[in-house]
Amino acid sequence: MSDYMFNLESHLTAEQNAALAAVQSAAAEANLSLYLTGGALRDMLGGFPIRDLDFSVEGAALKLARDVAKKTNAELVSVDELRKSAELKFESGVVCEISMARLEKYPKPGAKPQVTPATIHEDLRRRDFTVNAIALSLNRASRGLMIDPTNGVSDLEHKEIRAITNYTLYDDPVRLLRLIRYRARLQFTVNERTWQQFLNAREAGVTESIQPRSLFGELKQIATENDPFEVLKALDEEKLLTLFCNGLTGAKLNAAAFQKVAKLKTMIPFGSEVPTDWYALNLWCLTQPLSSKEKAALLEQTGMTKEEAEPWQKLEARSKKFEGVLKEPKLNRASVIWHTVKAAPGEEVFLLSLKSAEKLVQERLKNYFGKYLVIVGEITDAEVTDSTGVAPGTPEYAAARETYTVARLDGRIKKPIPPEPEPEPVIQPRGPFARSAKPKQV
Ligand code: CTP
Repeated sequence: MSDYMFNLESHLTAEQNAALAAVQSAAAEANLSLYLTGGALRDMLGGFPIRDLDFSVEGAALKLARDVAKKTNAELVSVDELRKSAELKFESGVVCEISMARLEKYPKPGAKPQVTPATIHEDLRRRDFTVNAIALSLNRASRGLMIDPTNGVSDLEHKEIRAITNYTLYDDPVRLLRLIRYRARLQFTVNERTWQQFLNAREAGVTESIQPRSLFGELKQIATENDPFEVLKALDEEKLLTLFCNGLTGAKLNAAAFQKVAKLKTMIPFGSEVPTDWYALNLWCLTQPLSSKEKAALLEQTGMTKEEAEPWQKLEARSKKFEGVLKEPKLNRASVIWHTVKAAPGEEVFLLSLKSAEKLVQERLKNYFGKYLVIVGEITDAEVTDSTGVAPGTPEYAAARETYTVARLDGRIKKPIPPEPEPEPVIQPRGPFARSAKPKQV
C-alpha cells in the first residue's frame, strides 16, 4: 500500500472508509478511472479533519453515482446535470460528491460554464486554488499515485492559498468568497498575486455577476463551517457580506449567539455525537437580528427556495415544542432525560440552550452536556461485559449496554474502580558501585 493510501485510510473514519470502498468497487466494476480530489485531499495532507469525500471520474460520473446509490442504499441528494456531478448521502451519514472530470469555459464572469469531459489533469487545472487541485488515484494499476499539476502540496506546506490562473476569480466570482472562507478556516495566507487578483476583480465589480444560486451555495457552506462566525466576520471585513443581504453587517452578525453555540459545542465530550442540522441552527443565529424586510432580502438575494428556508424559519417553533417536553415532571431520572434529549434533533437542543428562560430546562440541558454525555462516553465494553456477562459482537450486546448505561446514569451501578496497578518490582542494584538499600549502621 502506498504511503498516501495508508495516510488516507488512517485519516478517515470507519464510515468514510466504508463509503470509499463502496465507490472504489463500483468504479472498478464499471471500468471507470476514479480519483479522490478537492477538499478531502487538502484536508488529509494539511492535517485537518476530512469533512466530505469528493471523487472525480473520467467518464460517466452520474451513472456511477446512481450505481453506488442503488448498491448501498445511499440517498441521491442532488444532481447537477450541467457539471455531471451528484451528491450522495450514505446511511452512515457520510456525504460524498461524484463528479465527471471536466473542463469549464466561462463565456463571461459568473455565466453558466460550457462543460466538456476531460482528463483528470485538465480537470485539476480548471479548479479554483492549488490546494484544492490535487488528486489521488484510486485505480488498480496506479492506486495511491498523487497527481499535483499545480504544486498544491508545496502551497499546503507553506500554508498559502494560490489561485490557479489569472482568471480564476473572474471566471467564477463566487470564488472571491471562497478565498476569504478558506483563509479564515485554514488560517492560511493568500499569495500576493492572488490577492492582487482579488483586489482587481473587486474593483472591476465582478461580484455583481455572482448568481443568486451560487450565493446560496456559498451561504450553505458557511453555515456548515466548524466556526461560521470567523468566516462571517472575515467576509464582513472585506465588505462582502452584504452580497447575501443588504443589512447584514456589523452588530447584525449576532456574535453573542454564535459564541454561545461554539461554547456549547466544546462541552460535547470527545467521541460523543449530537447529530445537528448546522445549516438550520447557524442560519437561525444569522437571521435572528434581521428585520422581516432584511430576511426577505436574504431570500431574494440568494434565490433561497421555501424548502431551503423552512429549516431555519421553523426552528424556533420546533424547539419551543421540545421545551414543553423537556420540562415535564415525569422526566425525573437522569436516564429518562438522557433518552429524551438524545432523541431530539441537535439544532433544537442547542437553540433551547441558547434561548430557554425555563430554569428546569436549562438545568436538565446542563446535566445532559456536562454529566450524562461524559458518563456514557466513559463506559467501556469491558465494563459492560463484567457487569452483564454479555460480550461485544453478540446479538444481545446492544440491549445489555443500554441496560447498563441506564443503571449507571441513574446511579444504581457505580463507576467501577480500576484495579490498583501492580507494585513495581524492586530491583536490587548489584555490582561494585551499587549503593546498599539499607543505610549502614555506624
Ligand atoms: N471548485 C472550484 N470552484 C468553485 C467551487 C468548487 O474550483 N466555485 C472545486 C475545488 O477544487 C473544490 C472542489 O471543486 O475543491 C469541490 O468543491 P467544494 O465541495 O465546494 O469544496 P471542498 O474543496 O470540498 O471544500 P469544503 O471543505 O469547503 O467542502
